[in-house]
Amino acid sequence: MKLNRFSITIVAVVVVVAATIPTASTRAAAPGSNISRIMKAAHTGRNSLANRAKAGKASAREIDALARMYRSLYNQKPPKGSAASWKQKTVAILRASETMKRKPTDPKARAAYSKALNCTACHRAHR
Ligand code: HEC
Repeated sequence: MKLNRFSITIVAVVVVVAATIPTASTRAAAPGSNISRIMKAAHTGRNSLANRAKAGKASAREIDALARMYRSLYNQKPPKGSAASWKQKTVAILRASETMKRKPTDPKARAAYSKALNCTACHRAHR
């Protein structure tokens, strides 16, 4: 192939783009990033999914999404603390959210969820 100015420009652009796009493996390597994402999606802000669920104001679909996030949380590895403690804490939240899914407005189910979802205790042990 004979290189003219146009083809050289194309090659240069391809090289620059390839060098700027991080590979999938680099992005997946950040430890705990999945936990952060779940924290932000479920727990952040006064009007968070968790707060609405506790107040009996989340839809069935939202509670279902919450339960899925807790299932994923259960399968993550925390940045610190023992695996046994992590499983124990996350399975309690997962079970409570699944009960709430069946009984979205039941005060007992919501109280059990609030009790299992202890932000400070978990952060002290695992964050
Ligand atoms: C089962 C354990 C657990 C529970 C319960 C928990 N967290 Fe977290 N949270 C973590 C861990 C672990 C991290 C650190 C994640 C990382 O840095 O990889 C974290 C990080 C966070 C972050 C920072 C997210 C970011 O990266 O910007 C926020 C905000 C947060 N949690 C809010 C809450 C709130 C609010 C509650 C209670 C409603 C809560 N969390 C309950 C384990 C928990």
